[in-house]
Amino acid sequence: MEYFKFFNPTKIVFGKNTINQIGEYVAEHKFKKVIILYGGGSIKSNGVYDSVVNSFKLNNIEWIEFAGVQPNPVVNHAREAIKMIKEYGAEAIIAVGGGSVIDEAKAIAAGIYVEDVWNILERKETITKALPLFTVLTLSATGTEMNSFAVLSNPEEKKKWSFGSPYSFPLVSIIDPTVQTSLPWRQTINGGVDSISHILELYFAGDETAEPTLAVNEALIRTIISSVDKLQLDESDYDSRANLAWCASLALSGFSSVAMNGGEWTVHRIEHAISVLFPKVAHAEGLAVVFPAWIKYVNKENPERFRRWAKNIFNDDNIEDGIESLIKIFKKWKAPVTLSELGINPDFIPALAENAMQQGTLGNFRKIEYDDVVNILNLTL
Ligand code: NZQ
Ligand code: ZN
Repeated sequence: MEYFKFFNPTKIVFGKNTINQIGEYVAEHKFKKVIILYGGGSIKSNGVYDSVVNSFKLNNIEWIEFAGVQPNPVVNHAREAIKMIKEYGAEAIIAVGGGSVIDEAKAIAAGIYVEDVWNILERKETITKALPLFTVLTLSATGTEMNSFAVLSNPEEKKKWSFGSPYSFPLVSIIDPTVQTSLPWRQTINGGVDSISHILELYFAGDETAEPTLAVNEALIRTIISSVDKLQLDESDYDSRANLAWCASLALSGFSSVAMNGGEWTVHRIEHAISVLFPKVAHAEGLAVVFPAWIKYVNKENPERFRRWAKNIFNDDNIEDGIESLIKIFKKWKAPVTLSELGINPDFIPALAENAMQQGTLGNFRKIEYDDVVNILNLTL
């Protein structure tokens, strides 16, 4: 662990009844006019919306709203929001929702200052500033509430791509785990699967000397598994919700990436191909299908690390048993584990592989080309 940089400026406010503090944090930064961005309306039925707007009223903050961010958010919706913000003169964005809402908010925040927001994803324009972003997280999964990354889709061009910028960290993120009890079980599992996947993308690529990160990452995975297991018995168990939520934030906060060489991210790139071509598939559902297959395909390149993973996570003595244990957990949670469970016909494998290759070779310690993606996807049947 010879050289690394760590930077994470996001203030986290965590715990029960914290959402009604949002107005105070916005006022503290002297913003008076904001835009609230949200999704399909779950925040209206679970009380989150009321807490946010009441807090704004109490703190004399004026707002406009823009709803309709869809899961796997799309660029055209972001363009509409940018237009609206320019007309209204919002000084900050308040993203209220899960990863999709927060990601689109990051794209909008930076997109205000470029010619076209999609140019950021294409690397044709660089982010040099962004509107300040506050988030109220309602689904712990992606870690976006505490990182500088965002993923956006351009369905016309069949691209689901990501960007990251030091200007894209939220200023303040509020995480009240109690509001996640309204999640459908499918989304709770997605939180478990996505956060485990983030850690694994990093862990398998990491330096062997990076013991603090390896050990912390193992502890995070074990805690995520035990938390989701407990939530499966009682979805209102606050401590398990809270533990899952904080693990999911840490899983992609920079903390879990120290000395992990930037990670592999092959499974994520393959998954993004799946969810841009089949937008009804949730991000984590695609990950649950592809991750075990990728491990089967690449583990011989770094057997020591995979053996350590099997032992320290599942107490299994060999890699094959570790893979089976992972699949068993996903199945127990009722996550999909085969391509057909996602409703995808194997005939689509070449198109998925082609889409995954759009930005060039995948992987880090194990480079992955078109044929490898086809082989990995064939292991998901
Ligand atoms: O639209 P609403 O009404 O908000 O409903 C959402 C949505 O239907 C619902 N939901 C959220 N909180 C709820 C709730 N329903 C009831 N009660 C609550 N408390 O859940 C559904 C899914 O929400 P979404 O935001 O799409 O899920 P998630 O947080 O998993 O985000 C997925 C997106 O994030 C990207 C994914 O690719 C995908 O586009 N990712 C972002 C990353 C990042 N920025 O760092 C990293 C990840 O690897 C990932 O790629
Ligand atoms: Zn993910």
